[in-house]
Amino acid sequence: MTAPEPSPYLFNLFRRQPVLFVKGEGAYLWDADGKRYLDFFCGLAVTGLGHAHPAVAAATAEQARTLVHVSNLFYTQPQMDLAKELVRRTFPSKAFFSNSGAEANECALKLARRHGHLTGGRHEVIVFDQAFHGRTIATLSATPQKKYQQGYGPLLEGFPAAPFGDLAAAGKLVGPKTCAILVEPVQGEGGVNITSAGFFAGLRELCKKHNLLLMFDEIQTGVGRTGSLFAFQRIGVEPDVLSIAKGLANGLPIGATLARPEVADLLKPGDHASTFGGGPVVCRAALEVLKALDAAQLDRIRDLGKEFLSEISSWKSEIPAIKIVRGLGLLVGIELDRPGVSVVDFCRENGLLVNCTAEKVVRLLPPFILTDAQVAEGLAILKKALKGLSPS
Ligand SMILES: Cc1ncc(COP(=O)(O)O)c(C=O)c1O
Repeated sequence: MTAPEPSPYLFNLFRRQPVLFVKGEGAYLWDADGKRYLDFFCGLAVTGLGHAHPAVAAATAEQARTLVHVSNLFYTQPQMDLAKELVRRTFPSKAFFSNSGAEANECALKLARRHGHLTGGRHEVIVFDQAFHGRTIATLSATPQKKYQQGYGPLLEGFPAAPFGDLAAAGKLVGPKTCAILVEPVQGEGGVNITSAGFFAGLRELCKKHNLLLMFDEIQTGVGRTGSLFAFQRIGVEPDVLSIAKGLANGLPIGATLARPEVADLLKPGDHASTFGGGPVVCRAALEVLKALDAAQLDRIRDLGKEFLSEISSWKSEIPAIKIVRGLGLLVGIELDRPGVSVVDFCRENGLLVNCTAEKVVRLLPPFILTDAQVAEGLAILKKALKGLSPS
């Protein structure tokens, strides 16, 4: 297609790909020229149920005609229902709603600080190398990656980082000022990095021993992506605080922070707020998402995840550029021996959307509703792209 002209009216912040999308349905998107793309990207791990999901579309349209916004100074039924459903499906907790992942983590960090202030004036939150927790100043401070942090200093202090998966190193960082540990069950932006369940069990012990909050950032791994509603349920370690966003309303902006009731109650009326958070339209969408993620759908995600891993791993002998294939559910990373941008471009030009993160990791975030034929269609394009890489 003819590449759209960059707009002089937009911040030049994103390395946008030259496509203007006009429509989506299920696993497919269409550009302005009518070209169809199979979407293994899902708007960055968001539209897990596919585009224009009928139940989500119907509920949001109906709610938009009924009541869109009243603020959090009043109750609405969809918000109360969503909080109840999230708690029922996760762990004994209470919910705070916001509009994005960074805001969900911001609330988690405020809970950590409040917990620390009330227990001896502590404020440090242990994080992990290659983590990604957001772009606000606080969440950026908690994201120990120079490429995101540079040019914004001074950032907030008090976020010591340990290597991901290194329990002993995390333990060494615990000091008199530590109040919490913030961790992703699988590091998404960091390169689909996976570690053992034992690591998280160890963090749980550490938190118990030192009265720290264990805070899981499931903004990317949550809402079905890794084959259970939340990854902590597969890992078998319950957090004190859980950050959720991305897929929760299948494309409408939402953030949610769940916290054990004693932790949630550390914040009193007026201590934290959001004008738009938990509005009735997004909450209706999220309720439909939770309904759709039933046991059969989660089984299907796990099966699809296994299929992606075994199929792509089987290409390693023919495609030496593939170093490691890893993933959990439908969060899959293919680590290459070189930058992956040419694979992303080849795939897009051939009708498949994939992503590259941490420079050399081709990341697949396909929708949960893929048919077997669509899996085969997408993997055939991906294989062709990878096969086209010259021997190094
Ligand atoms: C693990 C994790 N935390 C936080 C965020 C930030 O979310 P948002 O872009 O909605 O603020 C992201 C986004 O990629 C993420 O993957």
